[in-house]
Amino acid sequence: MITRRGFIERVAAAGGVSLAYDAMIGLGLLEATPTAPFDLQGQVKGVRVVVIGAGLAGLTVAYELGKHGYRCTVLEARSRPGGRVHTIRRGTVSEEEGPWPIQVCQFDEGLYFNCGPMRIANHHRTTLDYCRELNVPLEVFAVSTDSQWIYQTQQQGLMGRRVRLREVRTDLDGYLAELLSKSVSAGALDESLTKDDAERLLAHLKTLGRLDDRGTYRGQEMRGPAVEGPQGELRYTPLPLGELLGSKAGEYVHQGYEYQPTMLQIAGGSDRLPQALAARLARRIIYRAAAKQIRQHEHGVSVTYADDDGDVRTLEADYVVCAIPLVLLKDIDTGFAPDFKAAIASVPYSAAGKMGLQFKRRFWEEDDQIFGGATKTDQDIAQIVYPSHGFLTRKGILTGYYIQGQAGRPVGDMSPGARLSLALEQGARIHPQYPAEFESGFSVAWHRVRWSLGSWSVTPADVKTRLSQPDRRVYLAGDHLNLNAWMQGAFESARHVATAIHARAMAGNEARPF
Ligand code: ALA
Repeated sequence: MITRRGFIERVAAAGGVSLAYDAMIGLGLLEATPTAPFDLQGQVKGVRVVVIGAGLAGLTVAYELGKHGYRCTVLEARSRPGGRVHTIRRGTVSEEEGPWPIQVCQFDEGLYFNCGPMRIANHHRTTLDYCRELNVPLEVFAVSTDSQWIYQTQQQGLMGRRVRLREVRTDLDGYLAELLSKSVSAGALDESLTKDDAERLLAHLKTLGRLDDRGTYRGQEMRGPAVEGPQGELRYTPLPLGELLGSKAGEYVHQGYEYQPTMLQIAGGSDRLPQALAARLARRIIYRAAAKQIRQHEHGVSVTYADDDGDVRTLEADYVVCAIPLVLLKDIDTGFAPDFKAAIASVPYSAAGKMGLQFKRRFWEEDDQIFGGATKTDQDIAQIVYPSHGFLTRKGILTGYYIQGQAGRPVGDMSPGARLSLALEQGARIHPQYPAEFESGFSVAWHRVRWSLGSWSVTPADVKTRLSQPDRRVYLAGDHLNLNAWMQGAFESARHVATAIHARAMAGNEARPF
C-alpha cells in the first residue's frame, strides 16, 4: 500500500506543487496554525475602518472591532453575506459567469446543500467558539460511514464493482494480520521482536483478523452479514487479496487529521454562520458595492466603490481591511508596494466544485443503509456525499460530486447541463436508483463564480508571512493567509488583523480611549 508521503510525492511529480498542496489539504496533512490568543482590551472612539468583503473573515474583523468602538463599514459586491460560505436552496441563482443559461435552483422548499464549507473539524476551536458565541447550533457531520461504497474503474482490482468501506478495511486488516502472524510464527521477525512481544503481537493479530487456529484469515463479522454453513457456522467471502491491493482501495480507509470523526456541521445550512455575523452588523454592510480603488494618504485611506446604481462613491477611513480572495484583489487599483502587489498576484487558486442532486426518495438510506459519509470513486465525480441531516425524511439532496482542488476545473468548465449528465451517469454506476429517483440538480464551479474566482488558494508559507503584514494602513484577511480552505483559517486571520489594528489604534493618535 502506498504511503501518504509517497502519494504526495507522486501527485507532486504528476501535477506540480499546487496539486500536491491540494492533496495535502484533502488528506489533512496540513496543520492548522495554532489558535492564537485573542483578547482585545479597551475602547477607541471615532476610528473608521472600511472592510472590503463580507465573507467570513471580513464580517469577523468588523464584528470584533465593532465591540471596541470602531466605526466599521463593510463593502460587499454581492447582495448577500458569506462569500464562499453559501448554501443552495430553492430559488438560489447561480453566481457563475459562463456562456450558458443561468441556473436557478429548483429544489423543494426546505431542502439544501452547502456548495462551500460543509464541515468543521473537531479541533477547529475558533470556529466552534464563534458558533457558540453567535448561538449557531451545530450537529454531527458524519464524515465517514462504514456502509459507504468504494467504486473503482481504472485500477487493477475490484474494477466496476462497488464494495463497502467496511469490507475493504476488514479484509485488508485481516490479510495483514494473517501475513504478519505467519511471519512472526516462522521467526522472520525474531531480530525485531523479543519473544514476549512476538507472543503479544500474535495475540493482537489474532484478534485483529479473527484468525483461525492456523493463523489464516477467513473473513469476520465486521465486514458485514455472513452466510450460514451446514453446521450453522458463519461463512464469509473476503475480497481476494490481489484484487484489494490492485484496487488501491486502502487509500480510502483512513481519515486525515482534519477529517477524523466527530466532525460537525451547522444545523440548517452553513450560511447560518455568516448570517448570524451579518445580523450583528446590519447597517454597517453595504451590499452590491464593488471596491474599485484604494488610495493611501498621510493620515488615512480612501476606498472608491461602485454602488448598486453604478455611481462611484468614496469612503475615508483610518484603516482598510481587504478580505476578498487575492485573485480578485490583484485586479483592484490598490497602489500597493510593488513586492506586496507581486505577492498577491503570485498566489494560484484551485477550482473545486460541487453538485447538489435532489431525489424523490432517500434510497441511499432506505436501500443501502447509508446515513452520512461519502462514497469514494476514481471517476470524475470523485465522491458522493450523503446528507447528515433529515434522515428518513421523504426526499433529500446528495452532493453528487465534490471534486477537490484543481481536479474540479475540467468538470467546472463544462456547461451546467453537461456537468449534470456526468454526475447522473457516473453516480448511477454506483446507485442504479439514480434514473428513477432524480428530480433536479444545481452545480457550483468555484473558479467561475464572479466574486470568488476560485475555491481556495494555494498560498506558499513565505507569501502568507509577507501578506500578513500590512501595506501601510491596509491589511489583508482571509483563509488564504491562515489555514486555506477552512472556515477556521478565515476566523483566525480575522482575529490576527483585528489584533494588529487595535494595537496600532490604541498606540496611535487616532485612539481616543474613553
Ligand atoms: N475544507 C475542505 C473540505 O472539508 C477542503 O473538504
